[in-house]
Amino acid sequence: MAASFESSASEIADARVVLLEAFRKEFFNFFGDEAVTKILDSIESGEIGREGLKSFFIQQIVATRSFLSLFEILVEQKQFPELQAAAASNLRDETGMDVEGNYHVELAHSTWRKNFYQHIGIAEERIDHAASTPGTKAYFDAIAELVSEGDIGKVAGALLFFEGIIPRQFNSFKKGRDTLFREECVDTDGDDAVQREAKQKARLYLDDHIVHDAQCHFPDLLNALVIATQSSETMLEKVKLGIALAKDARKKFYQGQE
Ligand SMILES: [Fe+2]
Ligand SMILES: [Fe+2]
Repeated sequence: MAASFESSASEIADARVVLLEAFRKEFFNFFGDEAVTKILDSIESGEIGREGLKSFFIQQIVATRSFLSLFEILVEQKQFPELQAAAASNLRDETGMDVEGNYHVELAHSTWRKNFYQHIGIAEERIDHAASTPGTKAYFDAIAELVSEGDIGKVAGALLFFEGIIPRQFNSFKKGRDTLFREECVDTDGDDAVQREAKQKARLYLDDHIVHDAQCHFPDLLNALVIATQSSETMLEKVKLGIALAKDARKKFYQGQE
């Protein structure tokens, strides 16, 4: 008994190392890309300008419209129960659903996003009518293809990559927000309670994602994938393909913004 437990524990440890290595390789490739660095730097420094950052945020939301479809693919499958549970939990967070299945609109990430965008002067109407940049289109099309193919391993790998890069990207967005929209988003001594509450509500979208994706969504998905890759020989290769595919798609997003 002890021997078999040890071997399965070491297999699990191996799978975690392999998955993390695959993720890290693409993570550094992505954040080392010239186009990605250039845009994130110009956001962080504020060089992008208020209108430039608004336009970028609009493209960001247009590009990621089909993000939740990726989770739905994992929730609907029955082959990997841990993966299904991790995706379901993530999807509940996204949509503001509690454990009893009730929706709370104020907890939905789309509501947080709307609060933030509105607060800095991006009207929903502008998003609805926004023309996609070549980068947004390339990203959107790549994800649509991934969704239509519906391969569980690739989808899970892509989501692992996306959840894993959110904190670092959003941290840059946050710095840009607090530089370019300082008056709207950063508390000052003169603010009354109403102003403070409105600012805090506006900050929630970026602030919460930086913490929650690093502490929950990424590690939860990673843990589920460590187990899923034990029971299927092809799964690990598919997950790696998904990670690389997501990296390419997200890179194209940045490369095609100018
Ligand atoms: Fe989210
Ligand atoms: Fe997330």
